[in-house]
Amino acid sequence: MSLQVEPWEVLAEKRLSEIGETLLVGSGKGGVGKSVVSAALALALAKKGYKVGLFDLDVHGPSIPAILGIKNVRLTGSRRGLEPVPHRGMKVMSLAFLVGDNPLPLKGAAKTEVVEDIISNTDWGSLDYLVVDLPPGTGDEMLLSTRIFRRHTHRFLVVATPSIIALSVVKRLVSLLRDEKIRIAGIVENMATLPGGAPHPGSQLLEKYAETENLRVLAKIPFDETLEEVLLKGAGLENAPRFWHAVEGLAESLTGT
Ligand SMILES: Nc1ncnc2c1ncn2[C@@H]1O[C@H](COP(=O)(O)OP(=O)(O)OP(=O)(O)O)[C@@H](O)[C@H]1O
Ligand SMILES: [Mg+2]
Repeated sequence: MSLQVEPWEVLAEKRLSEIGETLLVGSGKGGVGKSVVSAALALALAKKGYKVGLFDLDVHGPSIPAILGIKNVRLTGSRRGLEPVPHRGMKVMSLAFLVGDNPLPLKGAAKTEVVEDIISNTDWGSLDYLVVDLPPGTGDEMLLSTRIFRRHTHRFLVVATPSIIALSVVKRLVSLLRDEKIRIAGIVENMATLPGGAPHPGSQLLEKYAETENLRVLAKIPFDETLEEVLLKGAGLENAPRFWHAVEGLAESLTGT
């Protein structure tokens, strides 16, 4: 392993030193709700009066602007770097602002370079919380970003669904995070109920795993039938009440306020 510090890291270090805490939202698996949870968590924290940034680092499917209904953004910059977009009391930066709807057909090193560039060039200023929507899986981009954030105050939120299929993926991710010396805040169980409200049959299994591993279940977010319509209408995530209420609880348990 090279101990050499790259120029992008020096710049990134400087920016991250102005951030109170980074909340890394990730999962080993795609489609479990990382992006909707990140967006709602950032909003809930901003509503509590914290200075919040929301960073969409998903190289392949940056979806935060679509979730928040942010359209037609033209990024601006100054000598200090790229300006995040103000939205409902928080600051938002997404790879989607750079590439629009175009695919980003990048491989290996080029992909990690894009992530390095956006981390080192985004000018957040000072923040209480930076919520990061990480790319799915445990690939290079995810590791690269966690390695830079872990040098600063951070907690990792493992988003998981209670499906038996997801459990082995969660186990692998937790073991990787521990090897990487990343602080795990706990597990966010998403879609913890079935559509209709009945408890998910796999929920107990996930709880048992968390207990064995000494991990907190930070929130149990129910399946909310209204969420898709709220997203479609761009109505604001607060309008999916069961989902929103659980995420507010998550924000409370993370901040103690
Ligand atoms: N609690 C919930 N209730 C109902 N639908 C949900 C819930 N959580 C997530 N969804 C839906 O599941 C889908 C996937 O969510 P999302 O895009 O946030 O997942 P992701 O983990 O970010 O996916 P990817 O790995 O592709 O980035 C979305 O259509 C979202 O609306
Ligand atoms: Mg996503």
